[in-house]
Amino acid sequence: MHSYGNSGGDSGRGRDVLVIGGGIIGLVTAWRAARRGLRTALADPAPGGGAAQVAAGMLAAVTELHYGEETLLGLNLASAERYPAFAAELADASGGLDIGYRACGTLAVALDADDRVHLRELHALQRRCGLDAQWLTGRECRRLEPMLAPGVRGGLRVDGDHQVDPRRLAAALLAACERAGVDIHRAAATRLTVTADRAAGALLDDGTALAADQVVLAAGSLSGRLAGVPPRALPPVRPVKGQVLRLSVPPAYAPFLSRTVRAVVRGSHVYLVPRENGELVVGATSEELGWDTTVTAGGVYELLRDAHELVPGITELPLTETRAGLRPCSPDNAPLLGPTELPGLHLATGHYRNGVLLTPITGDVLADVLTTGELPEVARPFSPRRFYAVREESPA
Ligand code: GLY
Repeated sequence: MHSYGNSGGDSGRGRDVLVIGGGIIGLVTAWRAARRGLRTALADPAPGGGAAQVAAGMLAAVTELHYGEETLLGLNLASAERYPAFAAELADASGGLDIGYRACGTLAVALDADDRVHLRELHALQRRCGLDAQWLTGRECRRLEPMLAPGVRGGLRVDGDHQVDPRRLAAALLAACERAGVDIHRAAATRLTVTADRAAGALLDDGTALAADQVVLAAGSLSGRLAGVPPRALPPVRPVKGQVLRLSVPPAYAPFLSRTVRAVVRGSHVYLVPRENGELVVGATSEELGWDTTVTAGGVYELLRDAHELVPGITELPLTETRAGLRPCSPDNAPLLGPTELPGLHLATGHYRNGVLLTPITGDVLADVLTTGELPEVARPFSPRRFYAVREESPA
């Protein structure tokens, strides 16, 4: 592992890349950059933390398709396709850590006539996009998942939407970074250093000044708050709170669910993600409350109420954890990947609901751009420049 010292100093000996942020997006960027031979440092007070500690880990390119997000769909599908090889490579690079990739599929169900209309529309959109999803009657849904409520009115079976365990993903990426020689600083970046109109490193809250030829800002919902970033390069991301519950399925109840089950209940998404180890993750609220991460009685109530309508038997299960995290959301719900208007500064943020899904492709895209200076074709629609162009056109 490289060592560049701390306590106010930095040798600045030829570091190629500094990644600011050690959530799964920052870690995958640092790991992939180091694997390409770039001397890479990463700064985060608690690497491996962040939204991944809360996320359920659905790889839901098809079931989370939305109108107007067909371009994002292409990126989501490309990343989903990479997951099996990515999981195998990461297991190897981390010394054998398994990220819980489970090719279990997803069932999206309708609980009443309104939900059914909504789901039929989603199915039509999926078909127009050439996606694989099969319409099932309520009875067929219950045959697949006997714990579903008897009143289920129909559903969409999507065999290509899988899951990973984001906590295990974060742990594996951290181990892979350490083994690849990434210089990890357990401190927060407080200011971007800009020299001669070029990003040149960052100051950390432990007094370290890190110099680097290129800087990647990958600090999730905090990415828009780093001091020293000129307004023209500041990422337009905001936090969107999600509360998530964890239950556990005792062996006597297994298999409780065999795949991810989800629905829209009274306009809110609810999903149940069953892990092979018996954990059942129930998510998630979606709240625009700034930096608040309080778990509220109302949030827990709504999740349990909606999940109970879907799968009444959940009330028997032990509730083991409640937690809230912040999704980094951009104005068009899609990530910001690659160079900014400030030379030397790149972004890898704004992944919103798709951070876990987009982890493999984000690592590859950022490693490409850091080594060649060019965004690969698949990532061009996600250049941060799409927002700078709008800002330039807006009246002051
Ligand atoms: N992708 C699931 C969520 O953000 O809640």
